[in-house]
Amino acid sequence: MTQLKSLLTKSIKQKLTVKQDSFFKKISDQGIALTYDDVRLTTGYSAVLPDSINIESKFSKNVGLKIPIASAAMDTVTEAEMAIEIAKLGGIGVIHKNFSPQEQAAQVAKVKYHLNGLIEKPICFDENVSIGEILAYRKEKEFSFHSFLITDKNYRLVGILTKNDFDFCEDFSLKAKQVMTKSVITGNPSIGLREAYRVMKESKKKAIPLVDKDGKVAGLYTFSDVKRILSGDSKSFNVDKNGRLRVAAAVGVYDDAFERVESLVAEKIDLVIIDTAHGDSKGVMETLKVLKKRYEVDVVVGNISEPESAERLCRAGADGLKIGQGPGSICTTRIIAGIGKPQVSAIYECAKVASKFGVPVCADGGLKYSGDIPIAIGAGAHSVMMGNMLAGTKESPGEFRFHQGVQYKVYRGMGSLGAMERYKGSRERYNQGKNDLVPEGMEGMVPYKGPLKEVICQYIGGLRRGMGYVGAENIEDLRAIAQFVRITEAGKAESHPHDIVITREAPNYRERV
Ligand code: XMP
Repeated sequence: MTQLKSLLTKSIKQKLTVKQDSFFKKISDQGIALTYDDVRLTTGYSAVLPDSINIESKFSKNVGLKIPIASAAMDTVTEAEMAIEIAKLGGIGVIHKNFSPQEQAAQVAKVKYHLNGLIEKPICFDENVSIGEILAYRKEKEFSFHSFLITDKNYRLVGILTKNDFDFCEDFSLKAKQVMTKSVITGNPSIGLREAYRVMKESKKKAIPLVDKDGKVAGLYTFSDVKRILSGDSKSFNVDKNGRLRVAAAVGVYDDAFERVESLVAEKIDLVIIDTAHGDSKGVMETLKVLKKRYEVDVVVGNISEPESAERLCRAGADGLKIGQGPGSICTTRIIAGIGKPQVSAIYECAKVASKFGVPVCADGGLKYSGDIPIAIGAGAHSVMMGNMLAGTKESPGEFRFHQGVQYKVYRGMGSLGAMERYKGSRERYNQGKNDLVPEGMEGMVPYKGPLKEVICQYIGGLRRGMGYVGAENIEDLRAIAQFVRITEAGKAESHPHDIVITREAPNYRERV
């Protein structure tokens, strides 16, 4: 019976996919490409309840998502604070590359050390290092934790420095061995999460270092993280196999990529993105091949908007593709350079090719409302990347501005004049030298939106509702059964609130600025 049901479901999905293909074929046969405002999803018979829908997805071949949302690799959108919060909400943040390679790796470390099941390589200091030096290192790396393991010259564990040790220390010139707690309860490297929790609880110790048979450090469990993982509070977090929050980082091409990836991999980055304005180019292709040969990490490549580009990059070994050339709210590429393809058609065409290779695609840029998320996924994306829709949140790094009594946060394109004048990372994204800059983006501000958690709750709520109307139980379903209608300007006007003076703002709708 179950088999019959799944066969039937499969054949229904195949038929519907054919309908979707014929919709886009008719459009492209006329030489037309469509974007979000041109289409809506059609409703279908639905037996699914929005809250029971599964919205887990993939960002790349080996990196999963609990919610299909990534924050953009932009210097007004994603640094460690945003990456931590979005991973806690189930998505992934991409740390931008206007940082130096060292700064970028430190940002990644901040995310990876924020929450840990098992810390495989805990930070250790030699027993002769001073407390002042350790505190300076902690400050430089912006670590939020205080537990550091102390070793002798043979790297054997001799003690631990905890928050109490730092708090009660009045002379920072003292050496670690004079301040550390020497009675340490240790575990062997094979100890599991539950056993570690039991030992820490019984001994009232906040950390349990793991040591091998020679007494050398082999790992560390900390109480608060283990407790959070076991209590299920972190069930919705997007974490790696060791319980650490997932994070991605943007890199350029050739030496920039090689230098960055080396230190990013050392910090256990989950995936890297070769982030350029034109992903279908020689430098990207050659960099991708070298990275795939040297490292085991997933490499996502972008940006592209043509199916032939998707094919070339999949063949070259990309683990994920990022689609979008010029749809972004701060982009002027299409206007300045006259290139690009409206986003929904670009997603559909690239995803169709990528799915033959089992390569997930991310729809990057151009989303304005939560309803654009099911549209992007219905057209074939596995996830969406947002700049503008996340830029004004509490966790974004943009500065605050007040304008006519309203609070805003700065948001600018990575190809804007300001970003390119200041940062090599921005210039390289747009393949430009130091002089005669030709900007491909704008600088501006967006209304302050409050905490990311509240904003994402609305975006996910919209996605779930969209899936409910379509009758999709999960992301793959939505990709398979979504059908589109093209709408006219009158249809678009009808879709938005009309003939009313809005007296109360809704948390998920704003008139466009
Ligand atoms: P949204 O619409 O979410 O778009 O603000 C974010 C995406 O836009 C891309 N990006 C740019 N594209 N000029 C461009 O043409 C720029 O200056 C620029 N800065 C960012 C990028 O892909 C981002 O994720």
